[in-house]
Amino acid sequence: MEEKTVRMEDIISLAKRRGFVFQASEIYGGLAGFWDYGPLGVELVNKLKAEWWKAVVTESDNIFGVDGAIIQNPKLWEASGHVAGFTDPMVEDVVTHKRYRADHLAGTDSTDLGELKELLKGKKSPDGNDLSEPRYFNMMMQTWVGAVQDDSAVAYLRPETAGSIFTNYENVRETMRAKLPFGIAQIGKAFRNEISPRDFIFRVRELEQMEIQYFIRPQSQDAAYEQWREFAWDFLTTRLGIAPENLKWHEHEENERAHYAAAAHDIYFKFPQGFKELWGTHNRTDFDLSSHQKTSGKDLSYFDDAAKERFIPYVIESSVGVGRMLLAVLADAYREEEINGDKRVVLKLKPELAPYRFAVSPLLKNKPELVEKARGVYLMLKKQYGNVTWDDNGNIGKRYRRQDEIGTPNCVVIDFQTLEDDTVTVRDRDSTEQKRVAIKNISA
Ligand code: GAP
Repeated sequence: MEEKTVRMEDIISLAKRRGFVFQASEIYGGLAGFWDYGPLGVELVNKLKAEWWKAVVTESDNIFGVDGAIIQNPKLWEASGHVAGFTDPMVEDVVTHKRYRADHLAGTDSTDLGELKELLKGKKSPDGNDLSEPRYFNMMMQTWVGAVQDDSAVAYLRPETAGSIFTNYENVRETMRAKLPFGIAQIGKAFRNEISPRDFIFRVRELEQMEIQYFIRPQSQDAAYEQWREFAWDFLTTRLGIAPENLKWHEHEENERAHYAAAAHDIYFKFPQGFKELWGTHNRTDFDLSSHQKTSGKDLSYFDDAAKERFIPYVIESSVGVGRMLLAVLADAYREEEINGDKRVVLKLKPELAPYRFAVSPLLKNKPELVEKARGVYLMLKKQYGNVTWDDNGNIGKRYRRQDEIGTPNCVVIDFQTLEDDTVTVRDRDSTEQKRVAIKNISA
């Protein structure tokens, strides 16, 4: 068996060919930074979100879910610092007026304008032209609420899901009778007017986030920070089965951190374009609740019965993008192999994540007795597992290749022997081995 490094064009091609990801409004030429999930993509996305929700909310006894509105009162984003400070440094090609991320062109993680100016001295744009001086660009996407489109009606599409978690902190604490430490989790869309969306679904303008804000006593910040770093690593390696050698830690320098973070550690994944941020853990201190308390005039302090003291809770945040997670899962699972002179593309997904758990086929599609028997097995498995597909197109070898490419762990084939003894062949995606199994014993 032979393997080679995963290339982005291979992932993009597979994603399009097999219905994982399509360009948004493709028939109109697409729109930079926007993507649609196809039938298999949406299955995988739903599984990733369900796994995260299970790990974070369902299996926990002190983390509660919310699902906030995408558009909130704009004061929320003034208080959170996003209206003033949610910026990326950009430079402009003085001839084409194309805009670029200054830090990307300079090859640094720093977003400090002085440092970037130095690093970019003498550099040209990708089109070979001079560049403007770096300046900050606000990434908030704006809209208007109501019939009048003036400044008083401006609102923002949320740039992170965290916002409505903070504004609901007191509602959740009260309704759930929650005591510190407790968390609030949310999965939802967020929007960022990225200067240069790129690398397929890695950097997009409409994204989906899975976020937890964990409210704690200030003195537990270090332990809670470690707990949530560990959680992220463990989720990726254990629950999603991502190879640890494809992951590494990246600690943010001061000049790289978001305006709200006192400490930040990212897990980087080895994406086809290199090791890049996948999942962030941040210590947001009491920045957000203090700021919302000040701006709203509502008391967001917590009274600790045991210690008899009142304070603003600290927050450890765990935040990951669903699309980036999907890209990481695909890249981690993607293999090109040669078996007995035959080439195949195979997605070695954790079986629980595969869009289809089984594919069921009659050996020959023009033999009604095989088709009828196969249909029965298909319906039986579908009832039990739900995500089961029917595949009777082309010869068996082609069907196996097709299922390998989308990561289906097992193909079940109904042949003439099945009609005699109620056994089928079950073929394993990874080993390609086929076993004879009684229909009643087929299991995931
Ligand atoms: N609430 C904190 C927050 O939003 P972030 O580091 O800006 O922090 C968190 O984003 C995660 O969201 C990232 O680690 C990444 O997985 C995802 N993400 C952020 N911007 C993205 C973009 N433009 N496209 C795709 N995913 C993005």
